[in-house]
Amino acid sequence: MRIRYIIAALVIAATPLAAQTPIYLDENKPVDERIEDALSRMTLKEKIAMLHAQSKFSSSGVPRLGIPEIWTTDGPHGIRPEVLWDEWDQAGWTNDSCVAFPALTCLAATWNTEMAALYGKSIGEEAVYRGKDVLLGPGVNIYRTPLNGRNFEYMGEDPYLAGAMVAPYVKGVQSNGVATCVKHYALNNHEVNRHNTNVIVDDRTLYEIYLPAFKAAVQEGGTWAIMGSYNIYKNQHCCHNEYLLEKILREEWGYDGVVISDWGGTHDTDQAITNGLDIEFGTGTDGLRAGTTNAYDNYYLAYPYYEKILCGEVGTEELDAKVRRILRLAYRTSMNRSKPFGSLCSDAHYAAAREIGGEGIVLLKNDGDLLPMTVERDAKILVVGENAIKMMTVGGGSSSLKVQREISPLDGIRERFGEIAEVVYERGYVGDVTGEYNGVTTGQNLSESRSAEQLIADAVAQAKDADYVIFVGGLNKSDHQDCENTDRAGLGLPYGQDQVIEALAAATDRLIVVNVSGNAVAMPWGSEVPAIVQAWYIGSEAGHAIADVLSGDVNPSGKLPFTFPVALEDVPAHIFGEYTGVSVRDTVDIEYKEGIFVGYRWTDMQKKTKPLFAFGHGLSYTKFEYGKPVIDLKKMSPDGTVKVTVSVTNTGDREGQEVVQMYVGDRKSSLPRPVKELKGFSKIRLAPGESREVTFVIDSDDLSFFDPEKHEWVVEPGMFDIYIAAAADDVRGKVSFEL
Ligand code: GLC
Repeated sequence: MRIRYIIAALVIAATPLAAQTPIYLDENKPVDERIEDALSRMTLKEKIAMLHAQSKFSSSGVPRLGIPEIWTTDGPHGIRPEVLWDEWDQAGWTNDSCVAFPALTCLAATWNTEMAALYGKSIGEEAVYRGKDVLLGPGVNIYRTPLNGRNFEYMGEDPYLAGAMVAPYVKGVQSNGVATCVKHYALNNHEVNRHNTNVIVDDRTLYEIYLPAFKAAVQEGGTWAIMGSYNIYKNQHCCHNEYLLEKILREEWGYDGVVISDWGGTHDTDQAITNGLDIEFGTGTDGLRAGTTNAYDNYYLAYPYYEKILCGEVGTEELDAKVRRILRLAYRTSMNRSKPFGSLCSDAHYAAAREIGGEGIVLLKNDGDLLPMTVERDAKILVVGENAIKMMTVGGGSSSLKVQREISPLDGIRERFGEIAEVVYERGYVGDVTGEYNGVTTGQNLSESRSAEQLIADAVAQAKDADYVIFVGGLNKSDHQDCENTDRAGLGLPYGQDQVIEALAAATDRLIVVNVSGNAVAMPWGSEVPAIVQAWYIGSEAGHAIADVLSGDVNPSGKLPFTFPVALEDVPAHIFGEYTGVSVRDTVDIEYKEGIFVGYRWTDMQKKTKPLFAFGHGLSYTKFEYGKPVIDLKKMSPDGTVKVTVSVTNTGDREGQEVVQMYVGDRKSSLPRPVKELKGFSKIRLAPGESREVTFVIDSDDLSFFDPEKHEWVVEPGMFDIYIAAAADDVRGKVSFEL
């Protein structure tokens, strides 16, 4: 008997381990081999099952082969709480609270790629800890109209800035073995009629403005997933659009990841088969609304596709191509055995949220250096406004979260100053007293019985003898504010806030307005208010980050990622009338008639109208002086570069960070070009009195524009200007050279 065991042991020992582990499960084998092996073992039904959702946020694996399901999660600012298998409502877990990181406009406003990397790493750790394979974000749709309800989720008006900030975020998330799913690709630039807007845009505008951030996410960031958008382009829904998904994304950019539909963005089986969609989610066969049995079999890429193959109407070539891409995603994520365990609600994540928030807050105005606050013992600080107390992490659509905690601006101000000063609160106005989204409630009771007049009178009464009056207002995450699936009705602040601010400005010259929003707002009272701070939706650490800046513990260094217009009439998307805001049932054409002249590209060309605050604007508590920029060559060869160096000095009395911006202008071109376009930036930290040289290397890519006739980027010889600036409207120096 013993001899038999010995022989068996010898046989097993002699059998190379690999023979026991099938290739598709063998870590040591190249991924392509593992993909082919897995594919060869799958049945037709198993392949089809991988192409579509099986629940609200998951798609099938292959249980028989031990290939796991793929779990996706919203959103770009934090990991969404668990919902029921086939419902939007809460599963009621008690261990799925998260850290709410700042909204991506705030991240963009840091102009700090290290913050983007820190953000991606941190949120990716929360995602992998929660067992998620795909993070449904970040969003990089360009800010074309200040009415877009989802601008708060995106990274502003400039494709270069958005591209520079999205790539490190993608890498940070994916370092955890979690895929980013960069969205919404493409041309989803407002929310009204988002399912039925057919965007008409010329190729040059598409390639120069609306694609570059996605291209950077693919080619610099290496994103493993992309989400198609709801809208239509060239009369095909973007979730199965041959131009965007096959021609541009895969053929021109060499993208090897998967394309996931937006929830309910799939509308046609044939197009979904041939135009590059890989995984269909949220389709209206109740996958989006109430659950019904076998709804998922009715998905466009489910039984209808299976039937077309069975009756020979279509082959399996596209099917295998889709399954290969999904298996590649699986090996990167759900089947990635070397990914970290991650972490949830850690001190490091709260610290990251607070740091990013502090770096993203923009000091818009600071007359008389009213800020930073210097609070004497027994001083009186009055805080006014609903946004000082209202939770902002609940609502806004799919980016809504269930946070472990959220420090409100009032909390933060009380914590920072409450020991030595009296901090008084007045409501000032009533905005939206609700506080619930998909079953997550804020638990706040914001009810208020006083009239609008009484609320203003009470605030003014308290303001008269206050050493500081801090009005915290802006927008919120309710419908027609900063909220998915709706747009704003206008540029102005809602809820009568302008009246409150004007009344306070008349009562005190110590007024600070903190605007909490993800969009530009009108400020008719701007000249009467000495200090204005743009504070974004900062999430769990909002109050801490705001108090850090108001107190001067943090010297603000944020810069606007989009233009603040004085009025809607100054915005080209509204000048040319191609934004109606009216909800309709049928497909509506919206032509982007302003073309490439979005944001500062437009305002730079206006002689009369100036923006309220320009793209790239942001003040500091110290001062920075720029030396004359120096260029190393007066002539550049097409395959060469020129270097522009500028010395920046902190001439103030405290440390601070400055974002040195570099724009390129082409003096003469065969097609109209903007006065200047952002092609580089560098954020530097300088001690008082310290100088630093910043060098920008400019190559021909930075000089090129997209020629739609040739369908390629072209550089034309001639004179070019390099602008060194502290904002789009604050040029500190210019040098020129000839190509
Ligand atoms: C939503 C959003 C998308 C989100 C998805 C899942 O409609 O457009 O950003 O990730 O559906 O919630």
